[in-house]
Amino acid sequence: MNEKDTFYITSPIFYPSAALHVGHAYTMTLSDVMARSQKALGKQVYFLTGADENASKVAKAAKVVEMSVPDFLEMITSKFKHLYAELNISYDQFIRTTDEQIHWPGAELMWERLNAAGDIYPAKYSGLYCPQCEAFYTDKELVDGKCPLHLIVPEHLEEDNFFFRLSKYTQTLKDKIESGEFQILPETRKNEILALLERGLEDVSFSRPIKMVPHGIPVPGHKDQVMYVWCDALTSYLTAVGFGRDEALASKWWPANAHVIGKDILRFHAAIWPAMLLSAGLPLPRRIVTHGFVLSGGHKMSKSIGNVIDPEELIKEFGADTLRYYLLRKIPTFEDGVISKELLKDAYNGDLANGLGNLVSRIMKLVETYEIRTDFLEPRELWTKPGNPVKLALDDFDTRLAIEHIWTKITTLDREIQDSKPWELLKSEDAHLKQKGFDTMVRLYKDLWWVAVMLEPFMPETSKNIVATIKAHRSDRSLFPRKD
Ligand code: MSP
Repeated sequence: MNEKDTFYITSPIFYPSAALHVGHAYTMTLSDVMARSQKALGKQVYFLTGADENASKVAKAAKVVEMSVPDFLEMITSKFKHLYAELNISYDQFIRTTDEQIHWPGAELMWERLNAAGDIYPAKYSGLYCPQCEAFYTDKELVDGKCPLHLIVPEHLEEDNFFFRLSKYTQTLKDKIESGEFQILPETRKNEILALLERGLEDVSFSRPIKMVPHGIPVPGHKDQVMYVWCDALTSYLTAVGFGRDEALASKWWPANAHVIGKDILRFHAAIWPAMLLSAGLPLPRRIVTHGFVLSGGHKMSKSIGNVIDPEELIKEFGADTLRYYLLRKIPTFEDGVISKELLKDAYNGDLANGLGNLVSRIMKLVETYEIRTDFLEPRELWTKPGNPVKLALDDFDTRLAIEHIWTKITTLDREIQDSKPWELLKSEDAHLKQKGFDTMVRLYKDLWWVAVMLEPFMPETSKNIVATIKAHRSDRSLFPRKD
């Protein structure tokens, strides 16, 4: 475990070739919950996100809309940031891999370190290449001769590359994963990587001819080659916190506590990246947290399949917290799950309008009518209380189990208020019964405060609203007006 009081968490840096869809919003929401909850627990948190800009698909997308690459990047990255503002993503830095001041010195330093370790060598590469994935595929990996993600036939490519000696690190990686020094969550993904290591890692292509990808970071000493996207992109986790320009800062935050990723980029994060770090003599991240896919119409959302759902549209109609709620509670953190507008609406009406919204207004009405007052524990105390089930679930990065615990409390409160009918007790002439009514209400009120505090990382606006309602002692506002 990391004994430091800092917590460095990263999301992937997305390709700015198109606006983000609900699948990306999912990754960001999970990362945000982890960042916010660590803050609630008293850690100093740094949350990195950004854009993976030196990719040929970005240049292609710019060409389609007849924009220059820099203008196109500016437009798409501001869309990313707009979505994050709408979705209340509490990131600290948005790194852009075209940033020659922040990113390039560290990326070059990384290359030089790997080279100095004798782990980079020139070779010819030939294979089947999916331009959408920016990755080579073997015959076996194709489905009906097509890229399994984009359902397009890959191109045959042969080129001069530099290679990284990934194979050299197979055993060390295996040891570090087995000892738990380098964690991969969940267990099924860890086993997948261990099986891959069992078969042995092969060296990987690490650069591409500049004529293929004109926008990359030049390989030090070889101007005709640019760094392959993974060496460039993965290193952003380090350059963002100072590697190559501010070593004191880098050692404050590195190693990262968690890289949050989708399962499709696991191999890069759990094999190539740690091998690069070992080669460069740097500590490994503590863990890789791997989530599943958000499916739409039975498929992973993808622009080329045409099944993307625009998160901003959903936010406009249902609010950011409804989308966050849906993604966090209805999609199992470590498996695939489905989303549609209909499902989202059902969740809104059922769990939020009728569920949480109703509960808050019922409790607050009684609190107001009967002048119920009590003291509340500070949020930090509630969060760090031994046995807090929300914290325990989050220790395992199981965001769905964590929010499930909050909903268990909400359901219990609902039932309790129904069964004990405190309004009848409070109206009673019998002092004993009246007292019982007060005691019940104080308990319900304290539990509602707990719900409001625990909800913060998951549904920050809702949490803020309930806290404000409690503080203002108001019940005249419906948190989630019904939608028909
Ligand atoms: N640029 C690389 C990542 C580099 S990280 C150093 C990349 N970018 S991406 O734009 O393709 O976004 C990838 C991330 O989004 C992955 O974590 C991927 O799993 C996630 N998702 C893309 N579609 C998704 C869903 N439909 N559902 C959940 N996550 C999805 O790969």
